Amino acid sequence: MQKRISTLPFNDTPEQAEKLDAVIQGLKGQDGAVMPALHHAQDIYGYLPLEVQRKIANGLDVPLEEVYSVSTFYSQFSLTPKGQYHVSVCLGTACYVKGADKLIEKLIEKLGIKPEECTQDGKFSLTACRCIGACGLAPVLTVNEDVYGRLVPEDIEGILAKYAG
Ligand code: FES
Repeated sequence: MQKRISTLPFNDTPEQAEKLDAVIQGLKGQDGAVMPALHHAQDIYGYLPLEVQRKIANGLDVPLEEVYSVSTFYSQFSLTPKGQYHVSVCLGTACYVKGADKLIEKLIEKLGIKPEECTQDGKFSLTACRCIGACGLAPVLTVNEDVYGRLVPEDIEGILAKYAG
């Protein structure tokens, strides 16, 4: 699934900025510094907003395109913040053949966001994932640690309502 850059306003704290500066200073001039810099940055911020990628590019003196292509290529990097409730729909084979794509469509409709996005109030984020090992319950989605199985699109509204309050 294509990654999207976050359109939410980016606010960092002076502590976060200071930590990132220290990481960049420590890696400056080293070969292959982009990857570890992005790992540290994701630990600091939880995701990789464009502002942070720009800072890494400037600090390490590498093109922004290079930083961006590394952050979009590796699945461990996230370009969007996670919501308070992170909804993850399994798109593994068992779930897919039982209609997981219809669950995603319903979530897109109800939340007003696409996969890899977060609602403006920061409450929900949406993603698709690989098999989570609960194929007997297909199709499956998780909301943070909660697992829901044998779902039909009509179940989505009730699930979201549990967390919306
Ligand atoms: S394919 Fe969805 S849990 Fe295995």
